[in-house]
Amino acid sequence: MYERQTSFEKPTRIDGTSYIVEGIDAQQARNTCLLFSPKTEASGALASMLKIFQKNNVNLVHIESRSSTRVPGYEFFVECDGKVGSLGSAIDDLKENASYFNVISRDYKDNTSAVPWFPRRIRDLDRFANQILSYGSELDSDHPGFTDPVYRARRKYFADIAYNYKHGEPLPKVDYTKEEIATWGQIFRNLTKLYKTHACREYNHVFPLLVDNCGYREDNIPQMEDVSNFLRDCTGFTLRPVAGLLSSRDFLAGLAFRVFHSTQYIRHPSKPMYTPEPDVCHELLGHAPLFADPAFAQFSQEIGLASLGAPDDYIEKLATIFWFTVEYGLCRQGNEIKAYGAGLLSSYAELEYCLTDKPQLKTFDPSITGVTKYPITKFQEVYYVADSFESAKEKTIKFANSIPRPFGVRYNPYTQSIDILDSRFQIQNLMSIIGSEFQVLQNAMMKLKV
Ligand SMILES: [Fe+2]
Repeated sequence: MYERQTSFEKPTRIDGTSYIVEGIDAQQARNTCLLFSPKTEASGALASMLKIFQKNNVNLVHIESRSSTRVPGYEFFVECDGKVGSLGSAIDDLKENASYFNVISRDYKDNTSAVPWFPRRIRDLDRFANQILSYGSELDSDHPGFTDPVYRARRKYFADIAYNYKHGEPLPKVDYTKEEIATWGQIFRNLTKLYKTHACREYNHVFPLLVDNCGYREDNIPQMEDVSNFLRDCTGFTLRPVAGLLSSRDFLAGLAFRVFHSTQYIRHPSKPMYTPEPDVCHELLGHAPLFADPAFAQFSQEIGLASLGAPDDYIEKLATIFWFTVEYGLCRQGNEIKAYGAGLLSSYAELEYCLTDKPQLKTFDPSITGVTKYPITKFQEVYYVADSFESAKEKTIKFANSIPRPFGVRYNPYTQSIDILDSRFQIQNLMSIIGSEFQVLQNAMMKLKV
């Protein structure tokens, strides 16, 4: 569940998809993170660096030390409370004594040399949990459930589950009510009539597996835990409950770790074919199936990786690319056009409409797609068509290379963390890893006599 639009706008309604509102960064999580290696490896190097913070009255919230992958010796990660003391002056002193130094900050707008904060480890996603724009139980006055106290209590129940969730815990099992299952059933029945003819090949390949393994049925709302475990087995993607609206920066960052922030509640029963925000139908019928496809998973992760530490204008472009692909994408399959976007695959009416001759179809090109305006309260007038997920991925990687940031990023699946690549030593290590992988490939090819 993510948000879109510009500074502090109220989330704008999108039929069954998602929305983004930027601007929560400035109000919350003002801490600045510093990453540095002391010039000397001598014992006591950290102690002398820490004295710099003391001298400048900067409070430290968190300290970690690791073996450096950039320079011989150690690397320190320090999170500072930037509200008191002279952080700028401390940074100047630290730089003088460091062989490597980097600032990662939510307050990057006040510090042109800082890189916008991003999670470096999968458990850092826990920090998003309380950085939401509005709690999932807060409904607008025109929401179908606004005057329904039972529905509102239910929404609070789901929001609380997500709010208290921490990485690594099992996803909470939910006992859906008869009424909720009936709403799901109506949507499930309608949509499954269209999938064969309108959904892409990959979606139709995965869907029966979800029926067999995860309880996708008209009379059952699948448990997020079951779906997440299934996705993990297929591609390493997992679902994570979210209590409210995340900034687009935070939402996209989750994708870098193959984590999809997902709602668990269902829309109000009075309007089963309409929801002003993403619900469990949108997430499990629209999004989840394709995260089981390796090429689509890789494509989605590339959007997430591109977003890490990117300037705000590029975050907006990437969120727009996400909109026109993961939410509303079409793809070419043989001589036909099929839908793969979750906003389409979870909306009976738009799924029908998108393959008629009414909308305009354009070829997916990240640099053009990323700056295209789009309506959020009605059907799309333009859809972007990808030749394949592989091709969309290649184009997105090329686009990501144009994003101005002083380092490369790579997801390390062993440690479930992001490697920030900004030294020659790391590049040499990466070349060595790729060299080993290449030998595995050569060996397999020889055995298969390819
Ligand atoms: Fe969505």
